[in-house]
Amino acid sequence: MDRFRDHCVVVTGGASGIGAATARALVAEGGRVVIADLQEEAGRALAQELGQSALFCRTDVTVEDDIAGAVAAAQKKLGPLTGMVNNAGVVGAVGSIMQTSADAFDRTMAILSRGVFLGIKHAARAMRPHRRGCIVSLSSTAGVMGGLGPHVYTMAKHGVVGITKSAAAELAPLGIRVNAIAPGGTVTPMTRALGAGDVESTAAFIASNSPLGISCEPEDIARGILYLLSDDARQVTGHTLVVDAGVTTSGSGERPPFYEQAATTMLHAGRTEAG
Ligand SMILES: NC(=O)c1ccc[n+]([C@@H]2O[C@H](COP(=O)([O-])OP(=O)(O)OC[C@H]3O[C@@H](n4cnc5c(N)ncnc54)[C@H](O)[C@@H]3O)[C@@H](O)[C@H]2O)c1
Repeated sequence: MDRFRDHCVVVTGGASGIGAATARALVAEGGRVVIADLQEEAGRALAQELGQSALFCRTDVTVEDDIAGAVAAAQKKLGPLTGMVNNAGVVGAVGSIMQTSADAFDRTMAILSRGVFLGIKHAARAMRPHRRGCIVSLSSTAGVMGGLGPHVYTMAKHGVVGITKSAAAELAPLGIRVNAIAPGGTVTPMTRALGAGDVESTAAFIASNSPLGISCEPEDIARGILYLLSDDARQVTGHTLVVDAGVTTSGSGERPPFYEQAATTMLHAGRTEAG
């Protein structure tokens, strides 16, 4: 499998969860990756595991120089940038909108929105001379409908869908595709609170809320990201690929099951307090 033999991709948040699965999958298919993350130990360990095709670059996605540095490191050490995965994320501010502080709003938006904006900006600048490239940003099912996540997270993830369309319009004539992916609940450290704090109970919770009745692993989302990055998707730009086992399209017309059985994180989305 060498679908990504000529590819060099920066993956923000690449030290954990969906980002780590994406980095592994890219290298398994012949690609080269920069793991751009705040977590130094996990990031370096993964880069070592992946060998010469990978390097770790300590990156805070809210800091413009860090994003520019990760892109520069990729170009200097691994070859022209062909892909950018704006994946770094946190749940961020939780609770009623009536109680959410402006500071918590700003911190959450800095990671989930500013980070994606900076990633698209610097990737596009690097890709422009080669007239080739694809940028994929992580939205969420909370980015396509309400009630599935905390308020600020939901706002930011809807914003990812918006900037994806906007940047795709500008960058298409330059040969650069811009897409997003919207996962449903996926078993990663971010979603541990949905279960009892361990992988098994998180997977069981996700499976019990899945119309298909199956849990979602980081590799399931990585496969969607690789599709969008690959030439198989050469006609696809400005698109948000929803990978959620049908949670947002179950057609019941009611609130999705995910809402009805919401665990702590989701209950703190604010609906309960706000009525
Ligand atoms: N897990 C899910 O159910 C789910 C569903 C929909 C969308 N997503 C999105 O997928 C993406 C990846 O999430 P995950 O579930 O793999 O979570 P995760 O917690 O396993 O990984 C997130 C990574 O982002 C990194 N990160 C956080 N803040 C950063 C910053 N400022 N700069 C650089 N790196 C930073 C963390 O260190 C971590 O390695 C996120 O954008 C998340 O919102 C996840």
